[in-house]
Parts: sequence; structure tokens; C-alpha cells
Amino acid sequence: MTTTAMALTLAIMSVTVQQSTGPKAAQYDELIAQARALLSGETDRIANAANFLALVYHTLPDLNWSGFYFFDGVELVVGPFQGKPACVRIALGKGVCGTAAQTRLTQLVRDVHEFPGHIACDSASQSEIVVPLVAKDGSLVGVWDVDSPSIDRFDADDAKGMEALCRVFMELAWEPRA
Ligand code: SME
Repeated sequence: MTTTAMALTLAIMSVTVQQSTGPKAAQYDELIAQARALLSGETDRIANAANFLALVYHTLPDLNWSGFYFFDGVELVVGPFQGKPACVRIALGKGVCGTAAQTRLTQLVRDVHEFPGHIACDSASQSEIVVPLVAKDGSLVGVWDVDSPSIDRFDADDAKGMEALCRVFMELAWEPRA
């Protein structure tokens, strides 16, 4: 193994993946530190996106789907994710993801059945949060979508924590040299 490969392996080994407990703000602080450790040192966007999602999915409790949809210039296309196979393409303005992408505002949906136009990829999903990903130049990169099998799973603390995680993802994984 090369010195670089060894250093990367050690960096990943230092991230202990286990379900969070305790106050939410502290859970997110820990998760943000873990994401920074996991993403720094690697520049491949797909590798970083996949690892970021695996870290979050296996750390935050009570989730059934977590994934990126990337904007291809026309619509959102599913990227790396954890969970069951999902809808591949979503038009801007459609569903929770398309709404977050179009408005560039985090969508916090306590009960997906109450969201007009919600797109049901996994019938187990009961609540959902979608955070838009926007580049430094203001262009739309995509969205991060997280689903739960419980109603009312996400609150303002989750929105704040996930928006902070997205900033880490954009800084370290998407445009580290921008
Ligand atoms: N529910 C989303 C579609 C994506 S899946 O949940 C994976 C939406 O309404 O946009």
C-alpha cells in the first residue's frame, strides 16, 4: 500500500460510524466533524458523495432513504444514495425535491401525504427533508433528500444541521479548489 493510500485508509478508519444519541445539536456537531474527516483528502465527487451519504444514513436514526439528486441543466437526476431504488428524474418544481431545487429553500415536510405533488418513491416514507445544493457562483448543483418512516421525524434543528452538513459537502467534496 502506498503512503497516500495508507493515510487515506487511516483517515477513514478514524471515522467511527454508529447511531447518534443525545441532544440533536451535539449529534450534528459530531456528524459535521466526522464528515470533514471523511471528505478531506479526496477530490472525486462521486466517491465523496457516496461516503457522505453512507456516513449520514448509518449515523442519524430513523431514516429509510438518503440521497443526492444532481441538476443536469434540465432536471434533477438521482445520484448516490442509501435506501431502496428511487425515481430517476424529477422536474424542477415537481415534488419535494423539485420544489427545493426551484425555490432554493430547504423543504421540511412533517407528513409527506400533506405535501401537494409529493413523489412517492418508497411507500415507507412518511416525512422528508430536502436541502438545496448551490455552488459558490450561484448555480444549482442539486438537492440532498432524506426520508423517514416516521411522521414528524425532522424539525428545525435537523434543517439547521443538514444545511451545515451540505455546506461541508459543497466546500470539501464538490468545489474544494473553487
Ligand atoms: N419524495 C421525493 C422524491 C424522491 S424520493 O423520496 C427518493 C419528492 O417528492 O420529490
